[in-house]
Amino acid sequence: MACLADTAYADWPTVRHTEVVTLGCFTSRVHLVHLADNPETRLVIKYLSSDPEKGNIWKEMNILKTQQLHPSILPIDRLILDNDSNIVGMATKFVPGGSLNHNKDRTFKLKWLKQLTEALDFLHFDQGIVHGDLHMGNILIDEAADRLMLCDFSMAREATERDLMEEFCSVTWTLYELITLDFKAEDEQVQNSQRENGVYNLNTESIEKLASWPGVD
Ligand SMILES: Nc1ncnc2c1ncn2[C@@H]1O[C@H](COP(=O)(O)OP(=O)(O)OP(=O)(O)O)[C@@H](O)[C@H]1O
Ligand SMILES: [Mg+2]
Repeated sequence: MACLADTAYADWPTVRHTEVVTLGCFTSRVHLVHLADNPETRLVIKYLSSDPEKGNIWKEMNILKTQQLHPSILPIDRLILDNDSNIVGMATKFVPGGSLNHNKDRTFKLKWLKQLTEALDFLHFDQGIVHGDLHMGNILIDEAADRLMLCDFSMAREATERDLMEEFCSVTWTLYELITLDFKAEDEQVQNSQRENGVYNLNTESIEKLASWPGVD
């Protein structure tokens, strides 16, 4: 744990953990809250985790910062402190439209697809990083602003050619799911490649052969 004053984030906005009220949980460490003195302000807190599988929240803080980096990248709203001013988490503003997983029947607008590709171009070619965990759960829709927002940068990293290829595969599978509503095929592809080659390998080689793939007649 790090005390706010000893970090590079000393001037970032903060709130104490005792000053928020938990309303629900997205995952064990990602909670929907509101401010105790201002119930209108709803935030999503992501707490620090010692589990390396959960990715690195410090890296996520470094990448997201508190200013809006790009209109489709959800910035950090404030840091969460315990009573000794140690950083215990980070919060973003709650996006009520939720992720693409929360409303799978929602019509996905071409406008949002353009926003997704623009955000990825910005990340890849301007910032030189990959998101690293692109899937429907990490893509939010701010319906009021009519805007797609990327969240969860805990797996983001410097973009190598291989990472860029993997991200391209993730985008393709996400679009496949949005178009076909077939949510199992991506997992099956990864499991097949694990069984056949013994390694995790996300690819799109078989995607056009799937029955749900929109054919060109
Ligand atoms: N600001 C937000 N507004 C609305 N929903 C959010 C917001 N931030 C996160 N979520 C929801 O919470 C889920 C979990 O958050 P996130 O993806 O950042 O954590 P995670 O690292 O995947 O969590 P874990 O590793 O604990 O499973 C997201 O998939 C999304 O559905
Ligand atoms: Mg996530």
